[in-house]
Amino acid sequence: MRIIVCESAEEVALRAAIESIEYLGEALSTQSSGKSENPEASCVLGLATGSTPLGLYREWIERYRAEEISFRNVTSFNLDEYCGIPPSDPQSYHSFMHENLFRHIDIDPAKAHIPVTDCDDLSQSGERYEAMIEEAGGIDLQILGIGSDGHIGFNEPGSSFSSPTRVKTLTKRTREDNARFFPSVDHVPRTALTMGLGTIMSARAILLLATGKGKAKAIRDTVEGPITAMVPASILQFHPYATVILDAAAASELALIDYYVDAERNRQS
Ligand code: GLP
Repeated sequence: MRIIVCESAEEVALRAAIESIEYLGEALSTQSSGKSENPEASCVLGLATGSTPLGLYREWIERYRAEEISFRNVTSFNLDEYCGIPPSDPQSYHSFMHENLFRHIDIDPAKAHIPVTDCDDLSQSGERYEAMIEEAGGIDLQILGIGSDGHIGFNEPGSSFSSPTRVKTLTKRTREDNARFFPSVDHVPRTALTMGLGTIMSARAILLLATGKGKAKAIRDTVEGPITAMVPASILQFHPYATVILDAAAASELALIDYYVDAERNRQS
């Protein structure tokens, strides 16, 4: 794992923008027609919700407005969606993505996918989502936040490391953490359709972002703890290309923090 420690949440957003744009390269070029034979002229992005990636999305939007990047050759797949609320609900992740990213950029709405939960057969919907990701060629770069219990997407502690997109029951802690977006904790849905840990691990590269003291323990367990289903994000230790970008507060419990800072300094020089 590559660990980048920043001073502030603003710097996390900036670094995440720089890393993602550099990694996706030509796929975000404003010049590229996307019709060329070059497979690098398009890409598949895995997107996340929650407050943490908002800074990154603002950076992307700013660069799009400045005509530095374009999303017209991007296909995207979001990690998850609540069950039991319609996509039009202001608290749905459909609404979240529309409000905070999609409506501000030139991504083709038909290519911006979010798990479908307003349907009769949720397990079929999960299978279809997996098939769509595969048809698109797999995810090139997956953006992740992290829950205070170490969940990614809505893969709660105990999730199978090889899980595909399926329905998960949310823990009490996750529902309490997310209650701030709802009138009360009782309004937070009890289940969600989420990409599995297997789906996430299939992404070619991963960018996990975390800010604030509330994430410090989950980050310590993810980066330096044993790999265990009790901390779902710890499976990222197995990923060949996972980068973790943290602010000082989220990095504050890391035992090897000085080493990570040193390693990053050497990398830059
Ligand atoms: C939800 C989402 C996760 C996100 C987490 C943390 O549970 N399903 O993808 O990482 O919230 O959110 P925040 O960034 O607001 O702390």
